[in-house]
Amino acid sequence: MPKENEFRCVVTGGCGFIGSNFVGLFLSEYPQAKVLNIDRMTYAAHPQTAQMLSLLAPDRYQHLRADIADPQLEEILARFKPHALVNFAAETHVDKSILDPSAFVQTNVAGVQNLLSLTRKLGDVRFVQVSTDEVYGSLNPDDPTFTENSPLTPSSPYAAAKASGDLFALAAHHTFGQDVVITRCTNNFGPYQYPEKLIPLVIANALEEKCIPIYGDGQQVRDWLHVSDHCRAISLVLSEGTAGEVYNVSASEEHANLNLVRGILKRVGKPESLIQYVKDRPGHDRRYGLSADKIRHTLGWKPLLNFEDGLNQTVDWYLENTHWWQSLRDDNYAAYYAANYAPKAQEQETQL
Ligand code: NAD
Ligand code: TYD
Repeated sequence: MPKENEFRCVVTGGCGFIGSNFVGLFLSEYPQAKVLNIDRMTYAAHPQTAQMLSLLAPDRYQHLRADIADPQLEEILARFKPHALVNFAAETHVDKSILDPSAFVQTNVAGVQNLLSLTRKLGDVRFVQVSTDEVYGSLNPDDPTFTENSPLTPSSPYAAAKASGDLFALAAHHTFGQDVVITRCTNNFGPYQYPEKLIPLVIANALEEKCIPIYGDGQQVRDWLHVSDHCRAISLVLSEGTAGEVYNVSASEEHANLNLVRGILKRVGKPESLIQYVKDRPGHDRRYGLSADKIRHTLGWKPLLNFEDGLNQTVDWYLENTHWWQSLRDDNYAAYYAANYAPKAQEQETQL
């Protein structure tokens, strides 16, 4: 799609962490583009993020509060006539998936299937499924990194649901010839990330001098990428990726959790005595590591922000935007569950 043309793109989950960063990038990369953001506004979507997006390009951006699993989206999509749909909407927190996987199946599997089926009816729509390296499972310390050909061996309910969504997307390409591409990225960090995930949680707890929970021995390894580089990769795959292909996205920045946490504490000038070792996460994946050779060689992507600069910028953003994360800190899983899922379960029981 030439950048000067009107490019109509549906973004789902655009009020979340990566989706909001993507909407900002996309609207500036495509000055004539229109974005319809379908986001249900779960606990992970901040109203202030939604407001920030609505001010970016008010004539080219709309937000619809709706569920990606809702078949009634058909009419809205038919009216918007998208050229592409980029699916960020998902339940994303591994710890929550261990407490209750049901919401993960609903959004990450049924939601993806619904979007595939609705866009298929529209005809010529490119579908970008934003996925994760967690679908490949865990590596041992000396294993080579995962490639796009590695088998899917997800360990957590979150990863199993994402792998399932990927398989539905690939099946839509193989069976119906649907124009589907998949990105699988490593752990992201950057602005607007909900402080349940490691990096924003450590920054926020450190600033408030609360203890920092380290699961198990803290020697688990994650491969980190700044969200801006992930969004550039998604935009490239959207415009240049080959239908039916999967593209891994990674800067090969593998770091043990404990070292990462120590580095953040040093940056914010807080003592290591805040670290508290807690019980390990059940089924905790030991190491993630991804090869991005394919996207580097076929599409010419490479990360632009080095890890240290990205981490410094992220710490600065959380220091400058305390109002953003402090207003989310009261959230707890019980309240979230009660508000989002318990009423629906009761309604179903009544109908039966
Ligand atoms: P997030 O949790 O910050 O945001 C998810 C967004 O989706 C929220 O705005 C939420 O309201 C919305 N949403 C959830 N369920 C919905 C539904 N049923 N209908 C409509 N909207 C719904 O997530 P994120 O970290 O920005 O992740 C975005 C995508 O990127 C996910 O698909 C995730 O699997 C993938 N991913 C994330 C990472 C990471 O490190 N965060 C890494 C690789 C891939
Ligand atoms: P997280 O940010 O939840 O991402 P993911 O589980 O999807 O990789 O966690 C990153 C790593 O940090 C993971 O190994 C779990 C660990 N962790 C802690 O040790 N303490 C915490 O409080 C959190 C949230 C995560």
